[in-house]
Amino acid sequence: MTDSKQAYPSSAIMSPTTRFPDDFNWGVGTSAYQIEGSASTGGRGPSVWDTFCQQEGTVSNGDHGGTACDHVNRFREDVALLKQIGVGAYRFSISWSRVMPTGEGLVNEPGLAFYEQLVDELLLAGITPWVTLFHWDYPQALFEQSGEKGGWLNPKTVDWFAVYTRVIIERLSDRVSHWITLNEPQCFLSYGHGDGTNAPGLKLPLAEQLTAAHHALLAHGRAVQVIRERAKTPPTIGWAPVGVVKAPASPAQPDIEAAQKATMDVPTKSLWNNTWFNDPVFLGHYPKPGLRRFGKDVPEFTAADMEIIAQPVDFLGLNIYTAQHVKAGDPGDQPTPPGTPRTAFDWPVVEDSLYWGVRFHAQRYQVPIVITENGMANVDWVHTDGHVHDPQRIDYTRRHLKFLAKAIDEGFDVRGYFHWSLLDNFEWAFGYDKRFGLIHVDFETQQRTPKDSARWYAEVIGNNGF
Ligand code: NOJ
Repeated sequence: MTDSKQAYPSSAIMSPTTRFPDDFNWGVGTSAYQIEGSASTGGRGPSVWDTFCQQEGTVSNGDHGGTACDHVNRFREDVALLKQIGVGAYRFSISWSRVMPTGEGLVNEPGLAFYEQLVDELLLAGITPWVTLFHWDYPQALFEQSGEKGGWLNPKTVDWFAVYTRVIIERLSDRVSHWITLNEPQCFLSYGHGDGTNAPGLKLPLAEQLTAAHHALLAHGRAVQVIRERAKTPPTIGWAPVGVVKAPASPAQPDIEAAQKATMDVPTKSLWNNTWFNDPVFLGHYPKPGLRRFGKDVPEFTAADMEIIAQPVDFLGLNIYTAQHVKAGDPGDQPTPPGTPRTAFDWPVVEDSLYWGVRFHAQRYQVPIVITENGMANVDWVHTDGHVHDPQRIDYTRRHLKFLAKAIDEGFDVRGYFHWSLLDNFEWAFGYDKRFGLIHVDFETQQRTPKDSARWYAEVIGNNGF
């Protein structure tokens, strides 16, 4: 970046050995509700998150995404920051209810125009847009229309999502070719429909969570079909589930095998696993251990459903932040040793989580992988020298990238890395307390201050390694 003042000179934190492929996609990610603001202007309709935030006790400090990072009004400034960091790719999501205020029917022209302008600004800056169609902000009107059953519980949600996808593809696919259908289904289903800690705040029994999950899988498949049928430029399509990673407690082969098995298992009666979601998408069937574990709670489904869900996709996106360790012959997760480094979210820093996540998923699904999210919440503020010094984020990212490079060196096909996130933003039920950005945001003034990590990441990108 242009500002050369660095608290942590690169020589002190980099060794000259880690290199990435020439065509590697270096990026950062954001999502609509977390940064956009302008929640009730420009014709946007409310999403379940607007409603959830209004309910007392749901979000820390009563925070909400009403203004967030005011990105709708400041997107040009934000694209300029992306350009300064030097990313080749930017992952953002579209707010369904900004484009279709009631989720279906009426299309909101200013909403579409906003995304069109954003895409044009990115292209002008030489940055490839990677568009996520759904990052949790389900239209409130569709949720209400589906009555007490909740949006994803209603089978009609599959068609609604397909129509919305068509609207986006018709408008943007002459300029956008990278698409991600759904972000982290495990989260919006488990937290939103299981324990109620995320919007829409439902606490449903497992059987109904699994029904909602089946509809989400079908919506993914239908969206892929719509994109393939209608895209004006050849599309590259993926989806971005959570990568739930179990890492071996030691390099011994039995521990590696135990970790691989655990990563691909359905270990509890909950949606917190990988294979319930990825097996249908990449292998065309639900995993046997899951069918056994969930038993009578598994919804009815047909072979035709599985065919829709298993549309060929071009990459598997993985959102990986941490991992748990497992050991052969000792079922369950190993306890985290006292004093383990932890992020401001309390998540243990497990530097080889990307390596094992990539390895286990690539071995099972034989598909190119993109790290669609990785990063950490840190306690950041603007220091008296006017800079934001975040050595932990630099070190966290450096460690994780080193292990990602190891996976690539071993021949696993990893196409890109998207740091989460460009900006400090609305971290869902935790409000603005958890800062994930490479850019610090003062939420009173909307002042953006690139952190040391932004400069460091710019150097990594510039050198294609470190
Ligand atoms: C997962 C989600 O996709 C994103 O919205 C969230 O901010 C990050 N992880 C950090 O929790």
